[in-house]
Amino acid sequence: MTKFAELIVDGKSYQLPIVEGTENERGLDISKLRAESGLITLDYGFKNTGSTQSAVTFLDGEKGILRHRGYRIEDLAEKATFLEVAYLLIYGKLPNEDEYQTFNKEIKEHQLVHEDIKKILSGFPSNAHPMGVLSSLATSQTAFFPESLDPHRPIEKKDITIRRLLAKIPTFVAWAHTKEAGIRQNYPNPKLSYVENFMHMLFSKPNQPYEVDPIIVQALEKILILHADHEQNCSASTVRIVGSSQASLYASIAAGISALWGPLHGGANQAVIQMLENIKHDGGDVEKYINKAKDKDDPFRLMGFGHRVYKNFDPRARIIKKNADEVLSRLGIQDPVLDIAKKLEETALKDDYFVERKLFPNVDFYSGIILRAIGIPTLMFPVMFSLGRLPGWIAQWKEMRANKEPIGRPRQIYVGEKERDFVERKDRK
Ligand code: SDX
Repeated sequence: MTKFAELIVDGKSYQLPIVEGTENERGLDISKLRAESGLITLDYGFKNTGSTQSAVTFLDGEKGILRHRGYRIEDLAEKATFLEVAYLLIYGKLPNEDEYQTFNKEIKEHQLVHEDIKKILSGFPSNAHPMGVLSSLATSQTAFFPESLDPHRPIEKKDITIRRLLAKIPTFVAWAHTKEAGIRQNYPNPKLSYVENFMHMLFSKPNQPYEVDPIIVQALEKILILHADHEQNCSASTVRIVGSSQASLYASIAAGISALWGPLHGGANQAVIQMLENIKHDGGDVEKYINKAKDKDDPFRLMGFGHRVYKNFDPRARIIKKNADEVLSRLGIQDPVLDIAKKLEETALKDDYFVERKLFPNVDFYSGIILRAIGIPTLMFPVMFSLGRLPGWIAQWKEMRANKEPIGRPRQIYVGEKERDFVERKDRK
């Protein structure tokens, strides 16, 4: 039985239905508010506003809970492969053996990219940021697969586009890196697993094929799983709103890559390492940077700290921090920035400024340390986030289109000039 909240404005009463989800989250349905009252709501950054009802991912920011289709992130990170998690997010269930083999095989069949991709790559200057390259290559797929532009194509026909994206994005990511590094592009090797193949394309040299290191493959598999989806974050919301105009999945993913690029979102993992390196070169004075982060007159922020949803801890950060220790010790790497990161965390979590604002390490705080340890260049960190987040973006887009959600078009409160006449200048001809 639907419950209602009552809103009284200028003495008039409005009934707002209360929507309740499967995890007892509640929201006020204001879809008829403007029609009935002329009022809209105003919520900068949508901090209190839900854009949809979704069955893909559940977060509880107070309890540090993250589940994909009901499965705990801790279990998925420990026991699943990245492709299993991708299948789960996109199709709503873990694949059985046959489904998994078919999914894997079909992705392998599409890993090769058109040779004209090299012409697009050659058009970029060598200092092009790989996120800009990746977003362009994702959009370019609309030219190679124009049928993807048909908004009326049945949703199940979009599976080929989904497989092409999962198959080709790793190739684009690797080629964006080799382009930036000025080295030869490696072709995909279907004999290797998804992650092994990615590492091969990233690191193989003409006379020195990449030697698969199970420690590195396992660490990267986990990193990708931990980035796979995160409900209505900035980039997923971007993918949804672009897709809501019936733009193609390729165009929507390209928009998501651009949204993720910002240092407040997926670009934070690159910014964290640059911050830690700066602190190291500046003598490792952690207190100095904690004070800078607290100083409102100082633009410096503690990158990798804080989160819109998590207000106690980011479960992904916990897993990654533990993994960082394991990977570095198994690889026999001593990375001084890991010690600086731990000292920053320890100092911040004892400081009222951070405690009062519930600022804790997020997924980006430690991830760069693992990526660096397995040889991924810093500039590639946001692109690695894109690779991990791809199945989540696809799942969110698919759900939005399957539910036939309306085009996203927020309202506003106008605060500009009131009506005024256009008076022609005397000097006009
Ligand atoms: C991701 O949404 C998702 O799910 C995102 C993500 C995903 O998986 O998709 O989890 C991935 O984007 C993680 C976040 C990565 N970004 C960073 O690490 C950048 C540093 N963090 C922030 O800039 C910030 O914490 C955000 C962007 C993450 C969250 O910003 P909010 O929710 O808009 O909070 P806010 O900026 O309003 O901050 C509230 C207060 C402010 O102080 P007061 O005005 O109350 O005095 O906290 C302060 C802020 O100044 N604050 C920080 C801080 N983050 C917030 N102060 C210093 N250092 C920080 N990092």
